[in-house]
This record gives sequence, structure tokens and C-alpha cells, in this order.
Amino acid sequence: MSVTYRRDGRIGVITIENPPVNALSQAVRAGLMQAAAEFAADNRAQAGVILCAGRTWVAGADISEFGKPPAEPFLPDVIAAIEGLDKPVVAALHGTALGGGLELALGAHARIAVSNARMGLPEVTLGLLPGAGGTQRLPRLVGLEPALKTITSARQIPAPEAADLGLIDRIADGDLTSAALALAEELAGQAPRRTGDLPAPAADPALAEALKAKLARTARGQIAQATAVDAVTEGLSLPFAEGMAMERAAFRALMDSPQRAALIHAFFAERAVGHLPQIKGVEPRPLDRMGVIGGGTMGAGIAVAALLAGLDVTLIERDAEAAAKAQATVAKLLDGSVKRGKLEAARRDVILSDSFRTDTDYAALSQADLIVEAVFEAMEVKEQVFRALDRVAKPGAVLATNTSYLDVNRIADATGRPADVIGLHFFSPAHVMRLLEVVVADRTAPEVVATGFALARRLKKIAVRAGVCDGFIGNRILSHYRAAVDAMVLDGASPYQIDRALVNFGFAMGPYAVSDLAGLDIGYMTRQRKAADRHPRDRVPVFADRLYEQGRLGRKTGRGYYIYGDAAPQEDPELAPLLDRVRADLGITPRSFTDKEIVARTMAAMVNEAARVVGDGTALRPLDVDVVMLNGYGFPRWRGGPMHWADRQGLRAILDDIRRFAAEDNHFWQPADLLCDLVAGGRSFADLNEGTKP
Ligand code: 3HC
Ligand code: NAI
Repeated sequence: MSVTYRRDGRIGVITIENPPVNALSQAVRAGLMQAAAEFAADNRAQAGVILCAGRTWVAGADISEFGKPPAEPFLPDVIAAIEGLDKPVVAALHGTALGGGLELALGAHARIAVSNARMGLPEVTLGLLPGAGGTQRLPRLVGLEPALKTITSARQIPAPEAADLGLIDRIADGDLTSAALALAEELAGQAPRRTGDLPAPAADPALAEALKAKLARTARGQIAQATAVDAVTEGLSLPFAEGMAMERAAFRALMDSPQRAALIHAFFAERAVGHLPQIKGVEPRPLDRMGVIGGGTMGAGIAVAALLAGLDVTLIERDAEAAAKAQATVAKLLDGSVKRGKLEAARRDVILSDSFRTDTDYAALSQADLIVEAVFEAMEVKEQVFRALDRVAKPGAVLATNTSYLDVNRIADATGRPADVIGLHFFSPAHVMRLLEVVVADRTAPEVVATGFALARRLKKIAVRAGVCDGFIGNRILSHYRAAVDAMVLDGASPYQIDRALVNFGFAMGPYAVSDLAGLDIGYMTRQRKAADRHPRDRVPVFADRLYEQGRLGRKTGRGYYIYGDAAPQEDPELAPLLDRVRADLGITPRSFTDKEIVARTMAAMVNEAARVVGDGTALRPLDVDVVMLNGYGFPRWRGGPMHWADRQGLRAILDDIRRFAAEDNHFWQPADLLCDLVAGGRSFADLNEGTKP
């Protein structure tokens, strides 16, 4: 039974039990209807309590039912039945009361929560709006501005703040069940206070407009946020029942939108990446003490990510000066966490005095459970480091490299314990970015893979398994579509037009703004490293080399593709003549590109290489690619990732594009075998995402 009814004295108690998060599946909705009817008919019950078993109150509608035909009873009707009871009902909240879960609580007549409970309406993150009364009841309960902010930000509100807002009536002192029963006792015999009967707050068109203007920037390209603002605003002037009908219609329209499908795909894909057959039932190794080698951009960020998660960290640098610099960088990053409210100042001091130390002697790593190397990107240096680690690390320690491109098998060969070696590819800034590629080499032991995933969970990151190749999943795909983008610049497109077209498509940043941020030296060094393997028909972005040679390294030198100063980045009038000279030297007659063609070429290159990455097993499934591109490369989440996007376009259309582009360059534009096979078999990338929900 997912919902049960019992009576305790004169209080009727409804308990929901639907692990793991008490989602409102059809069975739970039907159970709630039934339990509400039993409570109504129970003459000895004078008030009621709704409780949830397990780790949380209801975390929302059952997302795995989305996209399927809706099944009765519908959630708004269930909540209306509870709100309409003529005896008061208390919702007793713990864990996270989210989405339909919070809406259910809003339909109760009073709310009590444990002090560490959180509540929110995250529907917009799934391309939806609250569809079971949230847009109508919340403003009536807490006022217009807090309601609009809660709904459009999807923020989880801590219980004390919820109490201040009037969202909950009381914070439970001690045991939640006892406190909820006591509140129900107080209310027994009183008329129920129905949220839907409260007067709506006055409209505030200026507030709504200002919020929508802000959302046009912060939720660029997305429809759910503005639709939610409209649903709240419209409801203010409607009778409650009409407001509910209007909300329902808006919810159903969003349910049918491609953005909703993409966002739900992203939600489940981010959970599916952790379900690896290879490590099912495999125990990770212990993970308390971590070593980091190299305290530069990545090493310092990795150390901070680990410290914030409560791990003990020893960081090794080359000499005392570099160690002191790393110490200062770590302290500065922790200060940043304090400023952003992510860390208490006192905790920062304890971390720095007790949990973190730098050293120049590898022997200081002898007790580390896991060591991440983040030194310069050169095979000889990495091999040297791993030989040294092999001498000092304790048996069973996991030895990880943060290399971006290098061969993890070769790095493992530098040790006498290749089964313990793995790639842990963090993204910059490592204490902020959620993605971690777990690079599994030929001889990496399953427990070591499981430890990589366990580390990610501990650091609250999303781990994706990747195989060994040049660039793993993300950087390999990036290198390929960057080549397509650079080829368009060689052929006549402006980098600024390309950045604009791809930002309009939804990317967080355009590729040339990204180059400026990373530093043009990074790309230059990579090209140098790969020059020997270059094919005569590979097209070299000579213009990028020219900028590098002129010392235009991007943001760090104030000038790259763009000019940086106090104001927003400026386009550089000297770039066009530089590009013209490069094209003239190469004998290229420039031509123009439409924004549409820029997007088509970029995406075709991305999808084609991604198909190769899946085809050769570097990524397990298409969804693993999507999660990498969404969380590491600024791909618009509301498009679901390149593979989900490609399925929606139709794989045949993408293959046709690739063949069309191949007419002018059949060296770069070679269709991936997997893409051809899927098109021939009438299948999609989604068909390869076995084991994912729904
Ligand atoms: N429906 C179905 N399954 C859900 C679910 C939901 N609402 N929420 C979580 N799950 C599943 C996950 O897929 C996962 O399954 P798996 O173990 O098979 O991979 C399992 O529950 C545990 O989830 P997490 O791994 O995410 O567990 P955490 O403890 O890290 O997080 C959580 C818990 C904060 C509740 C998080 O799962 C979450 O944010 N869930 C989604 C909440 C949400 O968006 N609710 C709104 C839904 S839309 C709605 O309610 C519409 C309404 O307005 C009509
Ligand atoms: P960095 O140049 O900022 O830092 C490297 C640090 O390693 C320097 O502080 C240096 O003193 C130290 N170091 C060098 N040799 C050492 C040795 N033998 N022992 C101890 N310390 C040593 O480089 P960055 O950017 O942090 O990159 C490090 C690694 O991370 C590289 O493999 C890089 O490819 C990878 N990476 C970089 C990303 C980025 O965005 N910068 C993203 C993901 C991975």
C-alpha cells in the first residue's frame, strides 16, 4: 500500500510511502483520494495529519509518467478533495517538499516542518509550471513577489525562511509526528483554513514586467519561466476555480513542448550516468584523505572541491614558492565560497588549519587514499610524477590523472600498479563545475572506477564514464566542432557572427569568447602538440596562431578575439583585416554564411563526432554524451544535449547535411558509421539509451 489511513485518538493519520522520494504516482494519487474519503467518513476523526515515510516528504509529481497519457485521478483533483474536507488537515514536512509535493501541502489547512526541511517549486527546471495549484495558491498564501520569485527561481526555501514567509505555520520542536499530531489536536473542531479561499493579492504589472525582462536574460530561450509569470498574474484577477483551469491549460501546453521533453531527458540522463553495469555491487575503496599534485588552476580548484566536501587534502608543489602560491590560491577560493554564502567563515579557518596542507615532498602522500595529479600537460612530466607516486603511495591508493587529452594507459604504465590508475577529468573552475569524466583505462580495476564515482557523489558532481582516447568524450567532440567553426572563419565567417549565432541557439558562450576565456595559448599548445599527426587536408586556424604570436592571449592579456576593459567585451576592428590577410595568403575567396548555416555546420560536426564517440565505446550511450555537453560545455539544457537534439531534428536530416558539406570537403565531413547505421535502420540515439527512464 503506498497510502494508508489510521486513526490516533481523534486524529486521522494518512501516511504516504512510495520510495525513494514519495513521488505522486497514479497509485499514490488514487491512494490519497481513498484515504481522504476514509478520513472524511471517520466520524471519530476530528482533524487529520498527512505524513510521509522514508527520507522525504513528497518530492513532486512522478516524472517518469510525463509524456505518457495522463491517468486519473489527476493531482489538482486530489488536492482539491483534501482542501475541500470539512475537518482541518495538517501537512507534516521533512526532507524536500517539491513541486506537486509542495502543492499538496498548500492544499492542506496547516503546515508544519522539521527545521532542516526545504520546500520549492522546481517545475520550471523541467520546462513546466506548477500544475496543481502552485501558481494560484502560493501567491494567496505568501504574497505576490515571494510567490513569483519562488516559482521562477526554483529555489529550495529552508524551513525557517518558509516560516517567516508564512509558507509553513510552525517548525516542529522535536519529533515531527508528535508535533504534527499536537497541531492537529489544536485545530480539531475548528473550520479548515483553505488556501484557495484566501483573497488574491493585488496585481503589480511593473513587478511582473521587470521579472520577465530579467528572465529574458537569465532563462534565455526558455518558455516555462515567462509562462509561469503569466499564469500567476492572470490568476490574480480570476475566481480561484477559473485560475486553476487556466493554470491547468498552461501546464498541459508546456507538457507538450519540446523543451519539457529535453529537460526531463536531462534529468533522467544525469541520474542514469551513475548506473554502470561494470560497477554494480562493487564497493568503492575508502575515501578520506586526498592528495593533489600541482596547485595551479586545476589542482587548487580540485583541492577546494574536496575540502568543501569534508575531505582531508595534502597538496604537493614543485618548490616552496609554488607551494605558498597554491596555499594562497586555495585560501582565496575558500574566501570566495564564504562570500557566496556557501561556507561559514569559522569553518574556513578550521579547514585551513586542520584539513589542508601543502608540501614539496611526495612522501607526504604516503597515507592518501586517492591522489589526483594536475601538473603540466606533458607526457614526460606525468610519467615522472606517476613513477614517484608508485614509490610513495600506500597499497590500494587510487592514482588519478586530471589530464585533458593524454593517454591514461601510458600514464598507468609508468607504475607497477596499473589497476589502481584512472583518469579523473575535472572541469575548470573545478570547485564550481559539476562535471567529472571518469576515464577508465584498459587495466583500471572496477573498485577504482567505483571509487571515482563515489568521489563524484561526495563532491556533489556528476560523473560520466569515458574511455581512453585523445580528449575523452567532451574535449574530443569539442576539438571536432571547433574545427568546423574555425573552417567557417577561414572561409569568410566572422568570429563575432559565429559567437552570436551559437549564443542565440542557446550556448552559454560563443566559441571565440570561450577561447579568450581559456587563453589562446592553450589552443596554440594543443595545435603544436598535434602538429606531427596532422593530415595534409586538415585545415589549420592560422588566424588563431597569428593572434597568439601577437601576444593576444585573450582575457588575461586584455585582448584576444575581443578587447577587454572595464566595459563589456568589445569587438576588435583590427580582426577583420587580419582575417582577410590570412585568407588571401591561403588563396581563399571569402564567402558569407547565414546564422542558420553556422548552427547547422556546428551541430552536424558535434553530432557526427559524438556518434563516433558512442560508436567506438568512448561513451557508453548517447545520454552520456548529452550529460557531458550539458554540464561541461555550456550546451543549452532546454535542448537536452546534442544527441537528444539530433533525434528531434531527425538523424536523416543531419546525415543529409553532412553529405552536403562533404561535397566541398570530404576529408572533414565523413559521416560516422553509427549515424549511417541508425538512419539505415530507422532508429534514433534514444534507442541506444537502454535502461533509462522513462
Ligand atoms: N519522479 C520520479 N522519480 C523521481 C522523482 C520524481 N519527481 N524525483 C526523484 N526521482 C528518482 C530519481 O530518478 C532517482 O531514481 P534512480 O535512483 O533510479 O536513479 C531517485 O528518485 C533518487 O533521486 P536522486 O538521485 O535525485 O536523489 P537525491 O536525494 O539526490 O535528490 C530530490 C532527491 C531532491 C528529490 C531530487 O531527486 C529531485 O530534485 N527530484 C525532482 C523534484 C522535482 O522536480 N519535482 C517536481 C516535479 S514536477 C511536478 O511536481 C509537477 C506538478 O506541479 C504537477
Ligand atoms: P597550471 O599550469 O595552472 O598548473 C600546473 C601546476 O603543476 C603548476 O602550479 C606547477 O608548478 C605544478 N607542477 C608541475 N610539475 C609538477 C611536479 N612535478 N610536481 C608538483 N607540481 C608540479 O595547469 P592547469 O591548467 O592546472 O592544468 C593541469 C592539468 O589539468 C593539465 O594536465 C591540464 O591538461 C589539465 N586540465 C586543465 C584544465 C583547464 O581548464 N586549465 C581543465 C581540465 C584539465
